[in-house]
Order: sequence, then structure tokens, then C-alpha cells
Amino acid sequence: METKPKGTYDVLPNEVLLWQNIESKIREVCKLCNYEEIRTPIFENAKVFHRDEKDSSDMVNKETYDFLDRGQRLMTLRPEGTAGVVRAYIENKLYVTNDVCKLYYLGPMFRYERPQKGRYRQFSQFGIEAIGSDSYMLDVDVINVAILLFKKLGLKGLRVRINTLGDKESRLNYREALVNYFSDKIDNLCSDCKNRLENNPLRILDCKVDKDNPILLNAPKIKDYLNEVSVKHFQNVLALLKELNIDYIVDERLVRGLDYYSHTVFEIEYNSSEMGNQNIICGGGRYSDLVSDLGGPVKPACGLAFGLDRLIQVLKMENNNLEVNNSLDCFVITLGEKASFKAQKIINNLRLAGISCDGDFNNKSLKAQFKIADSYNSHFTLILGEDELEKGVIRVKNNVNDSQEEVNLVNLVNYLKEESNEESTN
Ligand code: HAM
Repeated sequence: METKPKGTYDVLPNEVLLWQNIESKIREVCKLCNYEEIRTPIFENAKVFHRDEKDSSDMVNKETYDFLDRGQRLMTLRPEGTAGVVRAYIENKLYVTNDVCKLYYLGPMFRYERPQKGRYRQFSQFGIEAIGSDSYMLDVDVINVAILLFKKLGLKGLRVRINTLGDKESRLNYREALVNYFSDKIDNLCSDCKNRLENNPLRILDCKVDKDNPILLNAPKIKDYLNEVSVKHFQNVLALLKELNIDYIVDERLVRGLDYYSHTVFEIEYNSSEMGNQNIICGGGRYSDLVSDLGGPVKPACGLAFGLDRLIQVLKMENNNLEVNNSLDCFVITLGEKASFKAQKIINNLRLAGISCDGDFNNKSLKAQFKIADSYNSHFTLILGEDELEKGVIRVKNNVNDSQEEVNLVNLVNYLKEESNEESTN
């Protein structure tokens, strides 16, 4: 027997309903905030993600699924949504028709990580990208999408951690300070940090291995290296968050795991020991240079992405499974070959009239068919035997109020609709 690849999982029908429910809430929030859906390929030319040899992020260096296609082109399965969406924004010149282009996406991402609960090799993200403004108000517009979604899902116990990485000038000053500070201490840090010192010393602060090492804890803080523009931008973001009653904690050590960020970065975490290190359900920030790095015009942008797998885990932990309706309107039970044949016609008519309906395919006994009807939570069980066939009727058992009636086949659709309407108005 073949099994699923390591780090992947199956979403079975019962759970798919929960996913669909959350996806529809996401779409409602996006509509409210004027974000439009975009669908980009699951794989891109490798260059879209491997832009810069100096990129020091684990995700880009160690975790991508890269492959040569049959035409010997190097491809990458998308590890995240942002770069592909930006590629599509540039290629389709969305900047011509949109002042600020607000996009969202839902779908699978792929990272070759060490699998554990809440961390998979194929996982799903809901992300948004707002491209075309350097206003701090856009940062808050993005964060607010997350907050509105939490409200819609009835989720509490979440914490927004926020920081700034400043603009290019501030980061260069900070980088220099970090290189000076770490240079004579680097032998006491992990081997990855040695590479980071050369390529992107900021990422040393994000090191999972040395996260409690006093060398990291005592490192210079970005806030001491921000220029006026960067300070002002961050102060404005915080002031507007406050105005909108969005709680946050400033976390001076937050740098995020991707190299394209500038100014605001943030993560939203759910506090629970059950989720261990995988308690960050949303991350994002501002990126000023990615659009131009990928060959587009200068268009500052901001975005975020939710790990939907983790979001669903949180919803389950909060017993907030969101009501899911998985019942069938009708299940048709038949006795004998002739009735089975006729039942297919009845089922088809009901479906054409918008009534969900199914029947038996395996010549099951009467008892077994009743059990199947139960397993589908069917509202009505319809029973068709030789007698009923001859009379042109069908027996309708209403499983909600336990009544039974013989109904003429000609009136069946109307009868079922009236019964259902009556129940919903009672
Ligand atoms: P990210 O922080 O790499 O950001 O991922 C966003 C979220 O995806 C994480 O907070 C986490 O919930 C989820 N996630 C990441 N890796 C895994 C995994 N292996 N298994 C399960 N869930 C995972 C980004 O991807 C950026 N593109 C976000 C962004 C959009 N920044 C600007 N715009």
C-alpha cells in the first residue's frame, strides 16, 4: 500500500466542510476590505524565489522544492505566495489600472521542513498583498484584515507582535552595528549564524538554535539605529492601531524569516502549550523593494499570510468548529430491481429541482439502506417498493418530526419543499 508523502496530510470530507466554511468567511472579510482574489501557478521559474545569492533565509536556501522540468528549466514549487503574486502583478501590469492593488490568495505552499504538528511540507496559506503605497495606513489596513477575520471566526487569545526593520538606510546602519558586535563572538554561535553574519546579520536575531543565548539577547537593538523617517512611520502605525482598538505588543527582536521586509513586520500568535513552537498563525510586513527587484516599477507594498492548517487547529482547540451542515435532503430506499431503476429518475428530478438526494447502489437490505440514510443525516427518507410503483406514489418519512406520508410522485418536489419551508418558519 502506498502512503502519503512525509509532511503531508489528507483532508477528509468531514473536515473539508470546515475548510470551506473558513474559506467563505475569508472571502467575506476580503470583500469587506476590498481585496480581490488572484490565482497564480503553484510552481514558478526558480528565479522568482531564488532572486538573490545573498538571500540568507532558510526558506529560500534550504527548504524549497526545486526541480528541472522535461525542458531542463529550473522550477520551484512555491514556498510562499508573495513573490508569485508580485511576479503576476508586474507581468500583467496591474499597476496601470490600480492605484493601490489589493489582492488575496488561498492555496497550497511547499517547504521541505522537518515535519511536526503544525509544520508540514505541504500546507495552506491565506495571504493578502496590498501593492502601491508607502503609507503607514496601508500597513494597518493589512493587519486589520487579520483582526476582522479573527472576529468573524470568534477567535480570542491571539497576540499581535510588531516591530520595525526601518528603511534601507536604517538597516544598513544597524547591519554595521551588528557586524561589529557579533564579529568577535561568532565562534560561540551556530554554524548557520556564521553565514548569516556575512549575508544578513539581522537574521542572526531570528536564530532558533541560539534564541536564548545572552550574546543574542544583548545584541544592539534596531530602535537605536532608525532614522527619522523610519521612526515616524512606525509611530504612525502604532498610533493608528491604537485608534482602531487593535492590541499589540512591540517585540524588538522580531525580524521575520524572509529577506524582503522593510519597516513594519508583525506576527500573530496563539498562546497554547499544545502548539509548541508552531503557535504563529499569521505573519507579514511591509516590503519596499520586492516589486522593483523582480523587474517592476518602484511600488512599496505590504502583506500577510495565515497558515490555514494552524488556524484550523486553533479553532478546534477552542471548540469553535463552526457549525457545518453535512446533511442530505433525501435518501431513496428501494425494494427490488424495478423500483431501483425508477428511483434513479426520481433522484434526478429532485436534483434538478435543487433538492440534494442519493440512493443505494449495492442492492443492500432494507435495514442496511435505513442505516445509510441515517449516516447521511438525511432530512427525508423516501421509500419505493413494488406497491408504491404500481400506485405511482412514494412513502416519505420525515426524519425531523418522525411523520410518514404517501405522496403522489407528481407532487413530490412541491411536497418536500413545502414541508421544509414549514419547518424553517416554525
Ligand atoms: P511566513 O511567516 O513564512 O510568511 O508564513 C506565514 C504563515 O504560514 C506562518 O505564520 C505559519 O502560520 C504558516 N506556515 C509557514 N510554514 C508552515 C509550515 N511548514 N507548515 C504549516 N504552516 C506554515 C510568508 O509566507 C509571507 N509570504 C507572508 C507575507 C505576505 N509577507 C508579506 N506578504
